[in-house]
Amino acid sequence: MHTATPTVPSRLFVPQGNGSPQGGADLADVLRSRRQRLAQLIDFPVLLWSGTPKSRNFAANIYPYRASSHFLYFAGLPLENAAIRLEGDQLTLFIDDTSPEEALWHGPTPSREEIAQKMGATEAYPLNALADKALGTATLGESDETVQMLEKALLKRGIVIPRHHPGGNQALEKAIVQLRMIQDEGSLTAIRQAIAVTVEAHKMGMRTTPQAQTEAQIRAAMEAVIIGQNMTCAYGSIVTVAGEVLHNHHYHNSVGAGDLLLADVGAETSDGWASDITRTWPVSGKFSATQRDLYDIVLAAHDFCIEKAQRGVEYQHIHLIACQIIAAGLVELGILKGNPEDLVAQDAHALFFPHGVGHLMGLDVHDVEDLGDLSGYAEGRERSDRFGLAFLRLNRPLEVGMVVTIEPGFYQVPAILNDAKNRDRYTSMVDWERLEQFSDVRGIRIEDDILITDLGCEVLSKDLPTTAAEIEDLVGNSADDYQ
Ligand code: GLY
Ligand code: MN
Repeated sequence: MHTATPTVPSRLFVPQGNGSPQGGADLADVLRSRRQRLAQLIDFPVLLWSGTPKSRNFAANIYPYRASSHFLYFAGLPLENAAIRLEGDQLTLFIDDTSPEEALWHGPTPSREEIAQKMGATEAYPLNALADKALGTATLGESDETVQMLEKALLKRGIVIPRHHPGGNQALEKAIVQLRMIQDEGSLTAIRQAIAVTVEAHKMGMRTTPQAQTEAQIRAAMEAVIIGQNMTCAYGSIVTVAGEVLHNHHYHNSVGAGDLLLADVGAETSDGWASDITRTWPVSGKFSATQRDLYDIVLAAHDFCIEKAQRGVEYQHIHLIACQIIAAGLVELGILKGNPEDLVAQDAHALFFPHGVGHLMGLDVHDVEDLGDLSGYAEGRERSDRFGLAFLRLNRPLEVGMVVTIEPGFYQVPAILNDAKNRDRYTSMVDWERLEQFSDVRGIRIEDDILITDLGCEVLSKDLPTTAAEIEDLVGNSADDYQ
């Protein structure tokens, strides 16, 4: 039976100028080196798909397109509806040239040959050549339905397994995790560019706050800096006075003089490299005494984790350092009762710090999380079901070249604090009346991106201050505006 090859429109975009691939390093060289490293880990050919744009209700209106991170890692360019074949040192590109009708709506685009040259591909073909040239290649498993359709038709696969399925190619997944976990010079250049823009976005958010009436206005000011550099956001921005909602993607609240504003916003370069920074600042420009007490505890945890982050140290140990400092600080404030070590052993800190202290970062803000815990957890390790460890996304010894976040926090989450089981279990460990005095703190998080180096670690986002006094200065004392 003849199976018609499904066709999807392709629009090619090869970024130029600012945000150039891999931060301006020679793209072909960067990609060749990645292929060579892959070839040391596997000895079979691989096919990676870019992905396809998705329609919003009708075909001509699409959601913002983002190429697959695995494709970007080896192709360097955010192409649409393309595939690459990797075998040893060889790179083959599969993409259709733009038709005149597509050019009418989307403008002229580089030819297949031009794109191939930029990537250092040795051969380049239209997509339907996959039927001859890519049979027998290993793939990563696909969730994109259009790609599944193409894979079935062109690679003659009976079924296409979803991404990170037990029946998937484990050797390929492990090899890709091993490569993407350690950043090379090309990726670091791009990550530094993303971070530099994010630092400016946060400063703009702080400066804008005194004049802002709503979270939405502060978000807009921050994202304007990112968009103005022709970058995009690496994830849905969190800009909220309800910082206890960990991934809060609503921006409708008004901001008031007594509020803390938590902003977790990160730029992404045009070739897909992420950044991830969080700061928390007082809307009035001045922390209250209670806000300042808790802010300084989170900052102490942040600083000590960074001091201890170096090659060979278990990331779970860094997480437990944060738990320990937060527990000790809360005991000092009279919120928790008991010995900090015992409190952490019983997960009492997790009442207020329920997430992990951070994660890998690279092309994805939580890097390679599409492969589940294969990236975050060393072989043989599994997630704990302990209240205080279950959300730890990274449990590996730190290695030179890893980029990770350090993001301790303090939150008053009603669903945790009012939970009858927690109330019962932790009744003697929490001074609930004392806690009420801190009701002007809903959520505090301080997050930086660090690179593990030979000497310890480098705080890539160090240009954005963290101390309460510096943050107050950046916001500007606008207390008068609120009287
Ligand atoms: N930036 C959001 C997160 O790390 O989960
Ligand atoms: Mn993060």
